[in-house]
Amino acid sequence: MIHECPGVAICGLGTFRVRPVTFRLVTAKTYAIRTFGCQMNEHDSERIAGLLEADGLVPALDPDAADVVVLNTCCIRENADNKLYGTLGHLKTAKEQRPGLEIIVSGCLAQNDREELQRRAGHVDVILGTHNVHRAVELLHQSRETGPVLEIWDEALEEAESFPSALAVRREIDYSAWVSIQIGCDNTCTYCIVPAVRGRELSRPFGELVSEVQRLAADGVHEITLLGQNVNSYGRDLTLARREAVDAGSEDALIAGSQWAADDSRRIRPLFADLLTAVSAVEGIERVRFTSPHPKDLRPETIIAMAENDAVCNHLHLPLQSGSDSILTAMHRGYTAERYLEKLAAARAGIEDLAVSTDIIVGFPGESEDDFERTLAVAAEAEFDLAYTFIFSPRDGTVAATYADRFVDPDVVSARFKQLHTVTERSALAKHRARIGRVEEVVVEGVSRRNDQMLSSRTRQNKLLHFASATALRPGTRASVLVTDAGAHYLAGELVEVLAAPRHRTRIPVSAG
Ligand code: 5AD
Ligand code: SF4
Repeated sequence: MIHECPGVAICGLGTFRVRPVTFRLVTAKTYAIRTFGCQMNEHDSERIAGLLEADGLVPALDPDAADVVVLNTCCIRENADNKLYGTLGHLKTAKEQRPGLEIIVSGCLAQNDREELQRRAGHVDVILGTHNVHRAVELLHQSRETGPVLEIWDEALEEAESFPSALAVRREIDYSAWVSIQIGCDNTCTYCIVPAVRGRELSRPFGELVSEVQRLAADGVHEITLLGQNVNSYGRDLTLARREAVDAGSEDALIAGSQWAADDSRRIRPLFADLLTAVSAVEGIERVRFTSPHPKDLRPETIIAMAENDAVCNHLHLPLQSGSDSILTAMHRGYTAERYLEKLAAARAGIEDLAVSTDIIVGFPGESEDDFERTLAVAAEAEFDLAYTFIFSPRDGTVAATYADRFVDPDVVSARFKQLHTVTERSALAKHRARIGRVEEVVVEGVSRRNDQMLSSRTRQNKLLHFASATALRPGTRASVLVTDAGAHYLAGELVEVLAAPRHRTRIPVSAG
C-alpha cells in the first residue's frame, strides 16, 4: 500500500475511512464506505464518495450510524468473501433496527458473486459491478422506487465512464492522487481472477490523462500514482483515431493529445514511457509513482524514462510470483526466472538508488520442493526491499482452481511460507539498514499511528520513515530527514530541515443541503 489513511475509525463493521466534518446541516444524510481491496478499489471508493457527496450526502463521523453504507469488494484478496458476508451479517441486524439504512455492494467480488450475493443478502439495496461504479447514485435512487437493484456490466460500455478518474473524485489525501490509466487486463495468469472481472485492457487517452494531471497539479497535488493492472502495456490499444476521438472531449485534453499527435518523430501509439515523461513534465508534480508493471513488458524505454525524469520515484514494484520456470509456465507468466533477474539487473543498472518490491505466491498447484527452493534462491538473489507474499488460493473462475489434483498440502505450504518470509525479511532489513546515515527527502503523511509524538513520511523509494518534529508539519510537507535507525518495514530518523510546505488549500468542509 502506498498511502496510509489519516482518518480511520474502527466500529462493529470493521475499519472505515472517515473524514472529519466540522459543520453540517442536521438534515444531511451520511455515508460510510468500506474498501476491501487493492488501490484500484480504493480509487473506485473515492469516486463513489464523490458521487454520493454530489448527491448531498456527507461522510459519517460514526460509520455505525451512517444512512448509506457502501461495501466496495475485491476478490483478489484471500478470504474477501468471508469478510464480506460477515460484514453483511452485522448490517442485517443494523437494518432491522434502522430500516432506513441503505446498503450498496460494489466491486469485483460483487461482480463475480452476484447470484450468491442476491440469494444470501436480500437486505442489500444495490449490487453493482466494476464497470458501472459511476451509476451508484442513480441505482440507489432506483432502489428506493423498485426495491433491490442489481446492475453489472460485463464489459465497459462507454470508455470515458469506465475509468475511476474520469468523474468527480473525493480524494482521501489532498496532496496526492491516483490516476487510473488503464482498466482490465489482457494477460491470462492462471491463478488470477482479474481478467474475468475487470475485462479486456483499455487505455485511457493520452491527452486526457495529461490534462487530468495538469488539473490535479493546479489543485495543489504534487504526487500522483498511475494505476493499471499492467501499466507497461499502456497505449497498446490506443490508435491515433481512437485517441483523437476521445481526446476531443475537452479543450485541455485536445491540446495535450494533439501536441503528441503533431510530433512526427513519435510512434503511432504512445508507450508507457511517453506517459511517464509527459506527466513528469507537468508543473507542480514532484513525485510520480506507478503500479504495477508486468516483468515481461518492462521495456528499456520505461527504465530510461524512470532514470531521466526526476519526478519519477526510484521505486519499482515488479511481481516475481515464482522462481521456478515450470511454475512460471503453469502460471502463464511469460518469463523465466533468468529473464526476470535480467530485467531487474537492467532496471537497477539504469536507475540510481532503485528500491524494488515484489509479489510472490507460495503453493501454486504442483509446486514441488525443488520449485520452492528455486523461489527461495531467486528471492535471495533479487534482494528485494519489500515482498508481499501470498498463499495460493483457488479463485472460482480461474484455470488454476481446476488443478485440484495438484493442490499442495496446506501444512507444507505454510512451512514454505514461513521460510520465504525469513528470506524476504532478511533482505528487507539489510536494505533498510544500509540507509542509516543517509539524508532522505520525504513527504509527510501525518502523525504516526503508533506514536503520536512522531510523524510518518515516505521517502522517494516509498519507504516509511518516522521522525520526531518539534513543530507539527502538515501532510504534504516536504522535508529532509537523517536516517538513524531501521527495521524490516520502516526507517526512523531526525528532521534536518523543512523543504517546502504543501501547496494545496486545506479544505473547509461544507455541508450539503
Ligand atoms: N492466490 C494467491 N495469490 C494471488 N494473487 C493473485 N491471485 C492470487 C491467488 N489466486 C496475488 C499475486 C498478485 C497479487 C496482487 O495477489 O501475487 O500479484
Ligand atoms: Fe492478473 Fe496477470 Fe493481469 Fe496481473 S497481469 S492482473 S496477475 S492476469
